[in-house]
Amino acid sequence: MGSGYRMRRRPGPPAIAVLCSGQGTNLHAILNAIRAGRLRARIGLVIVDRPNAFALMRAKRAGVEALYVNPKAFPDRARFERHLIRLFAARDVQVVCLAGFMRILSPVFVRRFRQRMLNIHPALLPAFPGAHAVRDALAWGVRVTGVTVHLVDDAVDHGPIVLQEALPIRRHETPASLLARLHRLEHRLYPQAIQWLLEGRVRVKGRTVTIRGR
Ligand code: GRF
Repeated sequence: MGSGYRMRRRPGPPAIAVLCSGQGTNLHAILNAIRAGRLRARIGLVIVDRPNAFALMRAKRAGVEALYVNPKAFPDRARFERHLIRLFAARDVQVVCLAGFMRILSPVFVRRFRQRMLNIHPALLPAFPGAHAVRDALAWGVRVTGVTVHLVDDAVDHGPIVLQEALPIRRHETPASLLARLHRLEHRLYPQAIQWLLEGRVRVKGRTVTIRGR
């Protein structure tokens, strides 16, 4: 960890933060995995950057602390991010999970959570990065796509890959049918990758990740 963010592990399961901008189906899957005991964590905080993000509602319904933080209320990105860092530190957040968070975080923030921040992407990176991965994969005519969970680094959809699984594209696939199948995959993979990271089993060498004991 960079300086200024102290790991003060409190007793009990480690805290994670989940950052969302939209539906929050991955947040829902994380909550379910925690309830089922597959993910030994607690959600310390959910952050949404849009007031109407359904993820906010989901978190509140689940009794999890969730805040809408309006980035425009801050003079610049650095101050917005410092605010998030303070919120996380106060809740002893160990791992940050981006789950459809449509905002690019600065290298300063990324360094703060180096190898402690994950993102999930609905394609087999490095193919189809960006906000329209599902549509782009279909338009390209690929026969196989999938889901990637990766550590976050300074570039978008770029960091070392923790977990990836392929999904064949079916005949007559539509964006909606593909998205639904990708989501089911995401909801299985993301809690798994978070659990490995929390267990300290994720080892990174250059771009290559190994999972200890796997
Ligand atoms: C997911 O498809 C994820 O891969 C991408 O954004 C989407 C978020 O979906 N980064 P949801 O808000 O978790 O339903």
